[in-house]
Amino acid sequence: MEEMNVYAVIGEEGFARLVGVFYRQVPQDDILSKMYPPDDLPAAEERLRDFLIGRFGGPQRYIERRGHPRLRMRHAPFHIDQSARDRWMQLMDKAFAEASLPAEAEQFLREFLSQIATFMINRE
Ligand code: HEM
Repeated sequence: MEEMNVYAVIGEEGFARLVGVFYRQVPQDDILSKMYPPDDLPAAEERLRDFLIGRFGGPQRYIERRGHPRLRMRHAPFHIDQSARDRWMQLMDKAFAEASLPAEAEQFLREFLSQIATFMINRE
């Protein structure tokens, strides 16, 4: 499988499942619940889902709606230190466990997310 074929393998449904489980945990999380907009979680969920879908070979809805991702700039207002980064990945690990995607798709996604998460660290 090539990275760009992840969408062909898991489809809208696979991304929706993964990101859905991730966001379901956010309101209970002591670090992340303070950062995400409590009254706008479904919209935030849609943004992450559509971003990943576009990045991994699916429709470009994210870019059509939001323009260039500029993720570091868009994360600048949030206090993302190593613990916030690790917590984000922990929730994503749980999401992977529950979503049970095909192993190779999971590997591409996990590696990508883990790298970007580190790149988002913007505070000591
Ligand atoms: C390192 C830990 C991270 C934290 C604490 C974090 C936190 C946040 C928060 C609070 C938002 C605003 C929610 C919204 O209104 O959309 C957001 C948006 C977003 N995040 Fe993250 N994030 C992290 C890592 C990542 C990673 C690894 C990715 C993707 C690879 C990602 C992709 C996005 C996207 C696409 C948006 C929507 C941006 C927009 O269009 O406004 N984030 N993130």
